[in-house]
Amino acid sequence: MAGIFGVRGPVACDGRLSHIAFIMDGNGRWATRRALPREAGHAAGAKNLTPVLRACEAHGIPHVTVYAFSTENWKRPAGEVAELMRLMSVYTDDLMRDREKNRVHVRFIGDLAALSADMREKMERLEQATAAYPRTLNVAFNYGGRQEIVHAVNALIAQGKNTVTEAEISARLYTAPIPDPDLVVRTGGDLRISNFLIWQSAYTEYAFTRTLWPDFGARELDRILRDFLRRNRRFGGL
Ligand code: FPP
Repeated sequence: MAGIFGVRGPVACDGRLSHIAFIMDGNGRWATRRALPREAGHAAGAKNLTPVLRACEAHGIPHVTVYAFSTENWKRPAGEVAELMRLMSVYTDDLMRDREKNRVHVRFIGDLAALSADMREKMERLEQATAAYPRTLNVAFNYGGRQEIVHAVNALIAQGKNTVTEAEISARLYTAPIPDPDLVVRTGGDLRISNFLIWQSAYTEYAFTRTLWPDFGARELDRILRDFLRRNRRFGGL
């Protein structure tokens, strides 16, 4: 891994960055620039996940969340949605096969009720088979931040609560109990958060890059992390 990062090696984040999240944008443009169908961009994007996750591990980051499919992505052409579902299914199989090598607890966060029974069962089997590993990979799939908050509040109402606290909502989010993200990285050049971890990111740092997700790699991550580690996070204090 040190080779990818140059002579300095990967910058160590231990203790200072426990949760990083990625908005993996730009797959479609990556494909269009190569005169390929958009689906080829998603395939390239899915392939890029493993090396980026390995780089996060090399930096000592224990928890990673990736935005793989939003509640709004159903609006895309049926063929593209079908390809994203197929890629997720293949990726879930790969994570099951490689679980001993990866040693990461995979969790699917989002409204999984809308997925096929086959897909849901496969996801649940993977979550259970990896539950004992201390690091986490949250795969946000059919995920929307507002939907997540509504889901949390409805769960509290179902418990009989008339009023709710911040701590109670936080504890009911799909991402609980892992800490809020310290850093969200968005590739693809757009400067927005697209309904991603909106409750959890109240004090999150952001990094935006024009690099398209399939081209995003360990060197750029290292640069972003070095920048993050220089920031003064005040959390509303002085
Ligand atoms: C945005 O690119 C990305 C997505 C809609 C989903 C991200 C999906 C992947 C990285 C591949 C699938 C991964 C798994 C694990 C199944 P875009 O299509 O909006 O790109 P554009 O802005 O260039 O059109």
